[in-house]
Amino acid sequence: MDDRIPIIMDCDPGHDDAIALLMALASEKINVLGVTTTAGNQTLAKTTANARKILSFVGSHVPLAKGNEKPMARELEIAPAVHGASGMDGPVFPPNDYPVSSEPAWDFSRRLILASPVPVTLVATGPQTNLGILLSKYPEVKKNIREIAFLGGGIDHGNWTAAAEFNILVDPEAVKIVLESGLPIRMVGLDVTEKALMKHADIEELRNDGRPVPVLVAQLLDFFLKFHEEIGFAGAPMHDPCVIAYLIDPIIFKMVPYYLQVETRGTITTGMILADKRLNNKKPSPNAEVAMEIDRDRFIALLKKLVKSY
Ligand code: RIB
Ligand code: CA
Repeated sequence: MDDRIPIIMDCDPGHDDAIALLMALASEKINVLGVTTTAGNQTLAKTTANARKILSFVGSHVPLAKGNEKPMARELEIAPAVHGASGMDGPVFPPNDYPVSSEPAWDFSRRLILASPVPVTLVATGPQTNLGILLSKYPEVKKNIREIAFLGGGIDHGNWTAAAEFNILVDPEAVKIVLESGLPIRMVGLDVTEKALMKHADIEELRNDGRPVPVLVAQLLDFFLKFHEEIGFAGAPMHDPCVIAYLIDPIIFKMVPYYLQVETRGTITTGMILADKRLNNKKPSPNAEVAMEIDRDRFIALLKKLVKSY
């Protein structure tokens, strides 16, 4: 009996997506059924090319499919300042011919979910466009989804605007579909990821390991850290890796139940995740659990262990 957690990882690599994917592929607790790509950090073509680079680099055979070119109901916003023109600037990868499914992400995921003998966990580390399309087009998949674990949001602040975190802001309409799906939701957001910092010493430890994957991750972090130090961070925030860490070792985080809504029409609050913290008992029941605290050292140790396990 395979007691690993079956996941489909939807991502927009992206330096931190890449590290999260490497962690998932390395973990004995996770069975990556498939990877799908979304537009976000860069265009769909570039995030898909980056997923191919990572999967090929570690000799994976996990199936890959690409998703939608743009958000469900608005124009695409990308983040070249953070991830560079390629979406994963820094390391140089060898050429690859990693196959990409002819199925769009939502058909690919529907097939994998319905074929799984055990409920599947959907992981989203980018804008949730593909999840929104999947759940809208194929609601029957819900019967075999264990939970949705996403990187996004912040209970009291954003990073792309004062109110909104990037993944949520790019496609808030998709997030609304996810939050209203009735499925178990785990939100891992800025409340913990901005404390999950990889620092210079951590990066040098990986570089000094000398083996291909630790060195690759150090090179990814070199670029990612530079941007974040320039905007005042004391390290590289490991946003997407936190979601994978939650699945592998949930006690790293303190999860708090909240009723979450997402703003889709605000002048200055579009993309905001609003947690209902009213003290009265008239508010709606929680529809999500939100990571509010993190054991940073335990998290960093897990990240390093998995990266060094290749
Ligand atoms: O706000 C951080 C999130 O946006 C991360 O998922 C990063 O990869 C970008 O997609
Ligand atoms: Ca991402």
